[in-house]
Amino acid sequence: MRHWVSLTLLALVLPLGMAFTLATDESPSVRAVIRASYRRPTAIQFPSSNPYSEAKSTLGKMLFFDPILSGSKTRSCATCHNPSLSWGDGLSRAIGEDPQGLPLRAPTLIDVAFTEPLGWDGKFRTLESVAFGPLTNPANMNLSEAELTARLSAIPGYVDAFARAFGVGAITRARIEAALATFERGIVAGESPFDRWVMGDETAISAAAKRGFDIFNGKAHCSACHSGPSFTDGSFQDIGIGKDDDLGRGRLFPMSEKLKYAFKTPTLRDVARRAPYMHNGSVATLEDVIELYDKGGIDRPSRSPLIKPLSLTAGEKSELIAFLQTLTASTGATALPMLPR
Ligand code: HEC
Ligand code: HEC
Repeated sequence: MRHWVSLTLLALVLPLGMAFTLATDESPSVRAVIRASYRRPTAIQFPSSNPYSEAKSTLGKMLFFDPILSGSKTRSCATCHNPSLSWGDGLSRAIGEDPQGLPLRAPTLIDVAFTEPLGWDGKFRTLESVAFGPLTNPANMNLSEAELTARLSAIPGYVDAFARAFGVGAITRARIEAALATFERGIVAGESPFDRWVMGDETAISAAAKRGFDIFNGKAHCSACHSGPSFTDGSFQDIGIGKDDDLGRGRLFPMSEKLKYAFKTPTLRDVARRAPYMHNGSVATLEDVIELYDKGGIDRPSRSPLIKPLSLTAGEKSELIAFLQTLTASTGATALPMLPR
């Protein structure tokens, strides 16, 4: 069972889905039907095992931005999932406490409420189960569970905030996970020009972007994987990027030929703001992404049959990019929480 909490209730700026009807003078077209499939949901689903409360979300936000969650007290979750960098870090590989860096790029957290399982290889079934991965990984935040709960329990402001969110009782791993996940479920895409177009404003995006939308859903069949309002069907695919022992989901399913080099299809929300691209940050620009799809990536048995040379013209490539640029939301700065000390 899941509980739905209205986005407006969460005071997030998403006036979507309220009054979508096609203008009567617009003849029903394939484009209109496809367009409607990208309509934003009006509410966020919270699991009944961790229902929404404002106190939990407020606490989760403090934890998310607090550097005492790392061994050296220098990096928080927001170091790599920075709201001003579209909830990523702008790097090709994330860098934690180990200066060598991590083998993966930090994904955006936009729309994580809608895109479980999580992680490039899908190893996290729920949002709750993610947090202690980065927290306790010595190369990432490098803090033990015991040290973390001890640090938080020594700060009266945190003791109070946990009591408000969960009632009195010890500060536990499960409570930290629940609070962080509640905050993260509120990280949803802001309204983009594309959303205004989906809601019926014909002037919201250019004619080139509309043609790009048709190519995205037609000739280039990008929407076979990047479908729905978060632009992902949550599937794991080899698009011909990973090599050698960079097996992605194939590491979890060594008997599967199809899952070799398969990575999670990422959301394309805000994509123009989130270079470099892919799980390993190996593709520098959106132009390069389109070139890669046009050629088709490494040809091998695990590669998706949808990934093959597309013969896009120069005009079609720039229209696809014009369309992808309409997915950028104009969001204001995220207010930082007061950290209890
Ligand atoms: C050093 C950078 C770094 C820090 C700090 C960090 N993360 Fe991440 N985060 C990553 C990387 C890299 C991945 C991809 C991991 C994978 O796929 O296995 C990731 C993945 C995630 C995901 C999955 C997103 C998706 O779409 O699949 C979530 C959720 C997440 N992190 C939350 C957090 C939280 C909560 C914290 C703080 C407790 C945190 N992260 C701290 C780098 C970081
Ligand atoms: C077979 C499924 C599939 C199809 C078809 C597909 N993609 Fe992807 N897309 C993926 C996967 C999987 C990734 C991540 C791959 C990785 O990191 O190794 C990805 C990554 C991306 C990225 C990088 C996003 C980021 O945050 O790193 C962009 C941009 C993108 N795709 C756009 C497109 C466009 C445009 C098309 C059509 C020309 C398309 N995709 C077709 C599955 C697909």
